Amino acid sequence: MANDLEKEGAARASLKYIKDGQVVGLGTGSTAACFIRLLGEEVKKGLQIRGIPTSVRSGEQAANLGIPLTTFDECQQIDVTVDGTDEVDPQLRLMKGGGGALLREKIVASASKQYVIIADATKHVPVLGKFPLPVEVIKFAQALVSKRIAALGAEVTLRRNSDGSPYLTDEGNYILDCHFSKIRGADGLANKLSDMPGVVEHGLFINMASVVLIADGTKVIELKR
Ligand code: 5RP
Repeated sequence: MANDLEKEGAARASLKYIKDGQVVGLGTGSTAACFIRLLGEEVKKGLQIRGIPTSVRSGEQAANLGIPLTTFDECQQIDVTVDGTDEVDPQLRLMKGGGGALLREKIVASASKQYVIIADATKHVPVLGKFPLPVEVIKFAQALVSKRIAALGAEVTLRRNSDGSPYLTDEGNYILDCHFSKIRGADGLANKLSDMPGVVEHGLFINMASVVLIADGTKVIELKR
């Protein structure tokens, strides 16, 4: 698949940001999984890093590849994090959380000196919002928060597993997928969601990406903030 080749290309291009001795944040999703696989190959060749995963599944993948892991209990500063995204706009604002890991992803991003985003060309959009915006909420407030986000103009659905049960994040919360179609005021919406009681975190990552590597065919475009 063309997308898979682009994901691999972007992931490979991000390796130049990883240096010996660093603490590396490990993203979540299929593009981040390519990066973790390639990082595992570098570790086998002798690269010495410690990883902080953004999800249980990324942690399991890294551990299976022999990548040493650490936690915020041991280390509160991350040198570089490499993660995927669902969308990125021309201001390098991101929409994340399609894989349900947005809370840990944002925490890891916030502790990172460099935040490198890797993406295939389909993720590069003029305006965020075609992809539904994931919002992580505590169970108690789910219906109330749904109604409040719907009042902002979104069609809101509770994320479910294939058996119909509500999807639970690694932190045991629910995800609301909020279909806005075009988010014209992403900064304002991010503030409104952050101020809403019951919202644990939302998938708008504003002013966080330092570098975005977008693979388009066989070329990789590097965008910097
Ligand atoms: C997970 C994410 C992912 O980075 C995002 O969903 C992109 O995933 P993929 O690389 O599989 O397209 O935010 O919470």
